[in-house]
Amino acid sequence: MASLEISDFAEAVIDRMGECKDARFKQVMSSLVKHAHAFMREVDLTPEEWMAGIQFLTETGKKCDEKRQEFILLSDTLGISMLVVALDQARGANALADKPGEKPTEATVQGPFFWPGAPQMELGADIGEGYGEPTLYHGKVTDTFGKPVAGCQLDVWSGDEGGLYDMQKGDAMSLRAQFRTDAQGNYRFWSIKPAFYPVPGDGPVGAMLDKMGRHLNRPGHMHMMLQAPGHERLVTHLFVKDSPYLDSDAVFGVRNSLIVDFPKHAPGKAPDGREMDKPFYTAKYDFRLVPSARA
Ligand code: BEZ
Ligand code: FE
Repeated sequence: MASLEISDFAEAVIDRMGECKDARFKQVMSSLVKHAHAFMREVDLTPEEWMAGIQFLTETGKKCDEKRQEFILLSDTLGISMLVVALDQARGANALADKPGEKPTEATVQGPFFWPGAPQMELGADIGEGYGEPTLYHGKVTDTFGKPVAGCQLDVWSGDEGGLYDMQKGDAMSLRAQFRTDAQGNYRFWSIKPAFYPVPGDGPVGAMLDKMGRHLNRPGHMHMMLQAPGHERLVTHLFVKDSPYLDSDAVFGVRNSLIVDFPKHAPGKAPDGREMDKPFYTAKYDFRLVPSARA
C-alpha cells in the first residue's frame, strides 16, 4: 500500500466508510474528518499542541457529572450551541417560507440550569419572594397565525439577585416553576429582575476563556421553555434591556428580538391588581409558537 501524503489522509479516512449504512452519519463524519484535517494543516499543529488539546478534552470530560456539563459549556462558549439553535430555527423558517403567518419567537440556548419537574403554580404566583427586585412577567402566547395557545406549559427559571442558580448553591428548587396559559393564551407570574452573572469558570473551559482574554459573563435573563400540544417546543430567554454584557454574552445567546424593557414602578397597584408596598418592575412579552410538523 502506498504511503499517504499530508494532503491525502482525510480522503483515505473518508474512503474507509464505504460500507457505512447510515447516510447521514457518513455525511457528518466525512465532513468532520475533512474539516478537522484542514484545520490541522492550516495551523500546522505540533505534536505538543495536539497533546495539549487531548489533555484539555480529557479534563473537560473529567469535570462532567450529573450537575456539571463542561462539554456543553465548551460548546456554548465557542458559539456552537447557539449556531445549532440558529440553524434549527432557520430550517424551520425555510419550511414555513411559503406559508402565511408571523415570524415565530426566536430561540436561544437552554443552558445547564434547567431542572425538570419544577412545581406547577397558579398564574400570578410569586416565585421571587425573598429574593431580588420584584418583577411581574406577563403577556400572551399565540401561534404564528395569531391564534391564542391555551394551556401552554411555561417553564421559567433564573438565578437569584447575585446571579446564582439554586443548583449551584446546592439548594432545593427556587426561582423556578411551571405555569399554564389561560383560555386566552395569557400568562403572568412574579419573579425577580435577573442579574448578569458569570458562567462556571473553575474548570478547563474557564481556563480556556481566560487564555483567550475573554470574560465569563452573561447579561441578565429569564429562561423560558414553552410547550403546547400541536406546537414546536420553544426554548428561549427574555433579556433585561439595561443589563451589562448584552453586546458580549459569553455564550453568544442574545437576539435583539428577545431584549425587553423592564420599566420600574412606584409602590401601588400592579397591572395584575396586586398591591405592592415597594417599587417593582414589569416585563411584558408576547410569544409566537410554530404549529407542529412545520406544516
Ligand atoms: C445559562 O443561561 O443558564 C447558561 C447558559 C450557557 C452556559 C452557562 C449558563
Ligand atoms: Fe441563565
